[in-house]
Amino acid sequence: MILSKFLDELPIPPVLKPLQKNESYTYYEVNMTEIKQSLHSELSETTVWGYEGCYPGPTIEVASGEIVFIKWMNNLPDRHLLPIDHTVHGAHMDVPEVRTVVHVHGACVEWESDGYPEAWFTKGFKQVGRYFRKQIYRYDNCNHACTLWYHDHALGITRLNIYAGLAGFYLIRDQRERSLNLPSGKYEVPLLIQDKTFNNDGSLYYPKQRPKPVSGLETSIVPEFVGETILVNGKVYPYLKVEPRKYRFRLLNASNTRFFRIKLDSGQLMYQISTDKGFMQHPIGIRQILLAPAERADVIIDFSNLEGENITMTNDAPTPFPSGSPPNDNTGTVMQFRVILSLSSVDTSAIPAYMFPFHKLNERLALKVRYLTLNETRDKFGRELMLLDNKQWDAPISENPKLGSTEIWYLINLTKDSHPIHLHLIEFQILDRRDFDIERYTKEKMLHYTGAAVPPEPQERGWKDTVRANPKQVTRIIMRFGPYTGLYVWHCHMLEHEDYEMMRPYVVIR
Ligand code: C2O
Ligand code: CU
Repeated sequence: MILSKFLDELPIPPVLKPLQKNESYTYYEVNMTEIKQSLHSELSETTVWGYEGCYPGPTIEVASGEIVFIKWMNNLPDRHLLPIDHTVHGAHMDVPEVRTVVHVHGACVEWESDGYPEAWFTKGFKQVGRYFRKQIYRYDNCNHACTLWYHDHALGITRLNIYAGLAGFYLIRDQRERSLNLPSGKYEVPLLIQDKTFNNDGSLYYPKQRPKPVSGLETSIVPEFVGETILVNGKVYPYLKVEPRKYRFRLLNASNTRFFRIKLDSGQLMYQISTDKGFMQHPIGIRQILLAPAERADVIIDFSNLEGENITMTNDAPTPFPSGSPPNDNTGTVMQFRVILSLSSVDTSAIPAYMFPFHKLNERLALKVRYLTLNETRDKFGRELMLLDNKQWDAPISENPKLGSTEIWYLINLTKDSHPIHLHLIEFQILDRRDFDIERYTKEKMLHYTGAAVPPEPQERGWKDTVRANPKQVTRIIMRFGPYTGLYVWHCHMLEHEDYEMMRPYVVIR
């Protein structure tokens, strides 16, 4: 279905109010419900799932170091909105259909509050997964200022729960951020970018089967899903009226599978100031920014002297990335900025020259090096199955870093696509990427490099929690494990992959 562009104004998710706030802690309650919402004015209202009655969920804003308790509550219907494949791990017939568990993506958090995929719960906590430990999660927010997001993580149906609407921003602020004099208040705008497809009646479309149906299965997971329409903050191709001044935008790719390569049709520069996990050392001026699912970047865009202009944010990332087909006129359009508001006061905000010291982790401090493959194989139905280290979710835990230790992980991609690999709990730095000989690796299990090590791209030079592991390359990341011990996960953030075995548990041990 083709929908008119720039018909609706960009919604800004409300900031969530705590139920209780005192000197020692802050307490929130968040309800998940099924709601009807207008996602575009030419569409009938769409049934979606939201947090606190909205999709995307309200923005949770906390201070670095603030102790926050959140009771996430499932008040969703018993039947799922979207087709479930019961052959997928964790989604067999013996579990309730509608399960939820909330993960704050990028949070430094104890494992019992991390939203482990098997810590799911149903309405009223009547049934829970085997790793469920508590109803009220505790977040110590030991991160610096950064753009995080929360989303569902229930085993085997994460792709459906997030697609139904269960995602929102979680922002951590700190003193240093305040001292930088960045555009703030109404000049700081979060942009949650997703793709969806609609049925004629306005309902969400998610495939029940593959283009070539799998015989013997009524419903089958698809290898990846990309939507025909782009939404920002839950509106299809919205516009935002802006003043001729600087704005800070928090970009988040919250799609199931689609990569976005964001550009402005004015050709102007965007000034990137942060990566997934907070400020970079210096801003960088860029004309395009590539975001795989779950990646974030804060950018400053300066609309000064552009009075009366309309500027379109576009996308030209191929799907699948990097060797698939380019987007069309619809999926190549994200949103529009209209510089039609008059300047309400002099813009005194800055693009700081220096933001936060960045110290490279020393490779020689690594206690352990792990070689981990990204594989593609087939399941018993002949469907492609993506794996990490050739293991399925249920195989015994093999990654068990020691608390406080530094490790280097070699992500050896043997598949044809780029996969955004995410580790819970920690933040990492990208060391480099390097081409290697896949055939020889498959035969001899030895890495033969065919090119020089390439440092991370300028836009990735900072703390990250999600990295693109490109095809035919070894991507090396370095990180220190802590400050908690316990059970976490690492996985591909393309949700159709994550839901079907491209996810592994890992444990931080003492
Ligand atoms: Cu954004 Cu394991 O998740
Ligand atoms: Cu993947």
